[in-house]
Amino acid sequence: MKLCMIGTGYVGLVSGVCFSDLGNDVVCVDKDTKKIELLKKGNIPIYEPGLTELVTKNYKNGRLKFSNDLKKSVRDSDIIFICVGTPTKKNGSSADLSQVYNVIKEITTSINKYKIIITKSTVPVTTGDVIEKLLFKKNKKKTFSVVSNPEFLREGEAIRDFSYPDRIVIGSNDKKSNRILRSLYAPLLSKGAQYLNTSRRAAELIKYASNAFLATKITFINELANLCEKLNINVEDISIGMGLDKRIGGRFLRAGPAYGGSCFPKDTKAITSTAKKHKINLSVIKTVIKSNKHRSNILLDRVYEILGKKIKGKKISFLGVTFKANTDDMRDSSSLKMIPILSKKGAIVNYFDPTGFKTELSKIKNVRYLDSIKKTVEGSDLVIIHTEWNDFKSINFKNLVKRKKFSIFDMRNICSPIKIRAQGFKYYSIGR
Ligand code: UGA
Repeated sequence: MKLCMIGTGYVGLVSGVCFSDLGNDVVCVDKDTKKIELLKKGNIPIYEPGLTELVTKNYKNGRLKFSNDLKKSVRDSDIIFICVGTPTKKNGSSADLSQVYNVIKEITTSINKYKIIITKSTVPVTTGDVIEKLLFKKNKKKTFSVVSNPEFLREGEAIRDFSYPDRIVIGSNDKKSNRILRSLYAPLLSKGAQYLNTSRRAAELIKYASNAFLATKITFINELANLCEKLNINVEDISIGMGLDKRIGGRFLRAGPAYGGSCFPKDTKAITSTAKKHKINLSVIKTVIKSNKHRSNILLDRVYEILGKKIKGKKISFLGVTFKANTDDMRDSSSLKMIPILSKKGAIVNYFDPTGFKTELSKIKNVRYLDSIKKTVEGSDLVIIHTEWNDFKSINFKNLVKRKKFSIFDMRNICSPIKIRAQGFKYYSIGR
């Protein structure tokens, strides 16, 4: 099948290359000419394990193409995936759909034969209805279907998530598009993915509800971790004990810093905003947003406690600053909340991240990037393991540096307390 992915961010690029790997002809379109030129040369703008290899392979065999020409790419394709960003509006909490509607405006005259127009971007319920109306104005014979097909890819795991999905959700109100899309996804269905055909509105809501629910699970266990610390209970036992109940499930019950990234914070806000428009109070999700906002303060209070309430002049090292491992993404990372506050209080902050220097931290006083774990940790009063990179899981801190007076605050529970304490360090973690 001939596919066109509009937008070469995480969603568009990963889905596009994976679809081409399944044997489809895919053109990935972006208005950013520089980005497209770089992609043609094999330079991938995002850090995603396995992506470079897959792009190179499919670009070479000719199934994957890159283009700036939106209209032509749409004309030449059968299925159009809209994969542009839907960030939070500058002055509010609802989703900014300007990029989606700009795309629609541009492609209305390119519908030269039957096409399926799909929103893969996370869009509020009824966006598909609006898109259909806009397209209908110029295409009265209605040679198109508008479908919602939300993505459930995690950054850092995106290729795996695409290749082995739990479910494919197709929100489509007509049989033709449903039949075509079932056959597009057939290679994944044969590996065990569930195919769910719903109304378009339901598919749009499934995406928000899923992200909001996962954010709720994380917030739930984060709050329980606070209680575990007071009661001298290991929160991991609680996660396992709860997760063994199949009704609950063990995934996304890992306590840690506030959840971040480009999706959970944005989507929890957007769904409450949609609900408000319809005079519905999603009080659980609102509480999750509030609790997550406060999470960094709770962890900072622990930092103050560990350092005896004296922060001025203290050397604090961050191992990992991205919002999670296997990504270079800093969006809504809790490190961006904690580091500026520590700097303001007079701390000297060193950081190391496997994905390198971060411009987001470059203007903060007394904060500097060092290019190795050893250099970062040297001379520290406190080492904070902020992100769960494999690189930090087996560090022998005792052999790493000469001055070993520092304490360790493992915000991801990736180290063994017994091992680290046996090396002579004061070790703190989350909920245990
Ligand atoms: C999330 C969803 O997991 C994807 O299904 C969805 O497609 C994507 O958003 C999206 O809407 O595009 P992502 O933001 O890449 O994916 O990252 P997650 O792996 O979900 O992690 C989000 C945050 O939750 C991170 O800060 C992570 O550290 C935190 N987290 C996750 C925990 O604190 N504990 C957990 O047990 C799991």
